[in-house]
Amino acid sequence: MPHCDHSSKDARARDRQADRNRRDRNAPRCRALDGRAVKRGESRTRPNDGPGARRGCGPGRHVLALARTGRLALGIDASPSAVDLARSRGAPVLLRSIFERVPGAGRWGSALLLDGNIGIGGDPLLLLSRIACLLRSAGRVLMEVEVPGASSRMLTARLETSEGIGLDFPWAVVGADDAPDLARRSGFSVRELWSEEGRWFAELVSR
Ligand SMILES: C[S@@+](CC[C@H](N)C(=O)[O-])C[C@H]1O[C@@H](n2cnc3c(N)ncnc32)[C@H](O)[C@@H]1O
Repeated sequence: MPHCDHSSKDARARDRQADRNRRDRNAPRCRALDGRAVKRGESRTRPNDGPGARRGCGPGRHVLALARTGRLALGIDASPSAVDLARSRGAPVLLRSIFERVPGAGRWGSALLLDGNIGIGGDPLLLLSRIACLLRSAGRVLMEVEVPGASSRMLTARLETSEGIGLDFPWAVVGADDAPDLARRSGFSVRELWSEEGRWFAELVSR
């Protein structure tokens, strides 16, 4: 089970650990999110799940969709431009790393890691262990993974837009086959693994 320490010293140690975990120099683009995935994410977050938090929320589409259903939802993203965009749309978001202090730690009902966000920090075990600390007992994670047969790996990514190429940052991908072991080691179990429209998702429940 993860050791939950919400101090900033611990957060800095986690960020350093994520940096150390960079492995290869592949540089894929950060994938865009399609609208249908938003609907899938919403449908998997049940009314009795309590407050839900979205990690790496980007422009805040999921947070807004959840908030519109009347649920307490919070987006967290370390990118000022993503947070500005999300806020301009009315989404409740925090500008900070998921490894820094998060309000309500230990009380959130669910967390969304869609759209490849399991790659945040470049170390899925570290990220899920961190999220386990943010969730209440039997809290749930909805996590998008790669197709079965795809290998899990740590890599370096960078954002490429028409306006330029950003700095490299550590990233990771998780294959569907590795989801049960990753879940077990970070304090979760896999409740369901399924595919919709060519994308794969795992629902994890904290133990
Ligand atoms: C795959 S993109 C997600 C894009 C977003 N889901 C969308 O709808 O466009 C990853 C997001 O994670 C954010 N991110 C990266 N590291 C982070 C961290 N340590 N804490 C919180 N967010 C982080 C990035 O700023 C980026 O917005």
